[in-house]
Amino acid sequence: MRSGGNERGDVGEVVLTTGYARVDGTLSCEGVPLDRIAGQVGTPTYVYSAAMVRDRYARLDDALAPLPHRVHYTLKANSNAAILRLLHELGAGVDVVSGGELFRAARAGFRGADIVFGGVGKSEVELAAALDAGVLLVNVESEAEVRTLDRLARARGVVAPIGVRVNPEVTVDSSHRYIKTGEKGAKFGIPFDEVLAVAQLVSDLEHTTLIGLDMHIGSQLFRLDPYLDGVERLVGLLRQIRGAGIETVRYLDIGGGLGVSYDDEESPDLRRFVHGLVPLVQPTGLTLLMEPGRFIVGNSGMLLTRVLYRKHSGGRDFLVTDAGMTELIRPSHYDAYHRIEPVASPTGSMKADVVGPVCESGDFLALDREMPEVNAGDLLAVHDVGAYGYVMASNYNTRPRGAEVLVDGDRFAVVTARESYDDLVRLELDHPEWRTS
Ligand SMILES: Cc1ncc(COP(=O)(O)O)c(C=O)c1O
Repeated sequence: MRSGGNERGDVGEVVLTTGYARVDGTLSCEGVPLDRIAGQVGTPTYVYSAAMVRDRYARLDDALAPLPHRVHYTLKANSNAAILRLLHELGAGVDVVSGGELFRAARAGFRGADIVFGGVGKSEVELAAALDAGVLLVNVESEAEVRTLDRLARARGVVAPIGVRVNPEVTVDSSHRYIKTGEKGAKFGIPFDEVLAVAQLVSDLEHTTLIGLDMHIGSQLFRLDPYLDGVERLVGLLRQIRGAGIETVRYLDIGGGLGVSYDDEESPDLRRFVHGLVPLVQPTGLTLLMEPGRFIVGNSGMLLTRVLYRKHSGGRDFLVTDAGMTELIRPSHYDAYHRIEPVASPTGSMKADVVGPVCESGDFLALDREMPEVNAGDLLAVHDVGAYGYVMASNYNTRPRGAEVLVDGDRFAVVTARESYDDLVRLELDHPEWRTS
């Protein structure tokens, strides 16, 4: 099913949707009522819609069709193995930023040529692993990293394929300053006016070769002009690099960042975006790479949480849920908005702070939220948690991380088991070996 967000269609007895919709009053994912999942798996639980992931991937891949391209899904948004396998089947590549993500990607079936390796602080061990895996390119963020790669590649008798991550120094409109990454003075990338010198170094060293130019200007972007400005600046650099006699560049990697709707934001117009990209990229003859995370998985995820208590304090109503900042840190870390509604048919209305059980005042899912009437024992669904949700979960307060469930049509499967208390102490040593030298 490739059409739309929450479109419904009858398939025999079962009502299927491409995402989330109410069926006979109960919020359901594709053909599965969410209360069935909570009843069998417990809460808190992350649920993902396979159809929505497929739909988003296809939309972007189709929109980019006028250009030679590949979509490299970025693991940091959601590195669940089931999601990775699904994207692998669809033909995606991946973007990884750590040795751990490289390990996960390989486990899910991605080969070296499918993998872009980025990140501002890669260790030598991680860079060596990237070379050993034969990744498509390593996006470097400093001259020192280039020299390290040259040394590691020399020791292996290989040539390191390098992309230079450029800080294009464009102004973006992200919803939070923590997700702006391409402005002047950011820790990411190589300052624009130093790129030519670094490109020359990559080209001059014996065991590195310059095959890409890369940028990632931020996340949750709706205005696409800064993207196009950034691409224009990269293409300008390419001209200078080619003018300096370096003819090896093959890829233009323009990062991730496409915005998704959490409230009522209008999705970026992909056709218009690609319409703007084509005249910039086509004349270069380069293959376009994109590294979307949130766009592919953000809207596909729902967090199921049970209301433990409803209480009144200082003139406010509080709903204390069994999920909080340990499950979903976005509200407290990024001031992020997530729609919350009861899984059962909504009735009445109330205004409440939806807070978690963690001993922190910053532990909340929503503040001052107008919502249907909710009471202790009710099941709530927190929308649009597919990206930067479970991957940012923690064990603070010694809380086991919840389960992850994938829904596909009228079936569902637990794809990550709920952690146990034993899991939490597995690496702790009761009888540590004391060392004095
Ligand atoms: C280098 C890089 N590429 C891609 C992404 C994915 O961004 P998004 O999830 O907004 O698409 C990020 C996110 O931080 C990133 O740092």
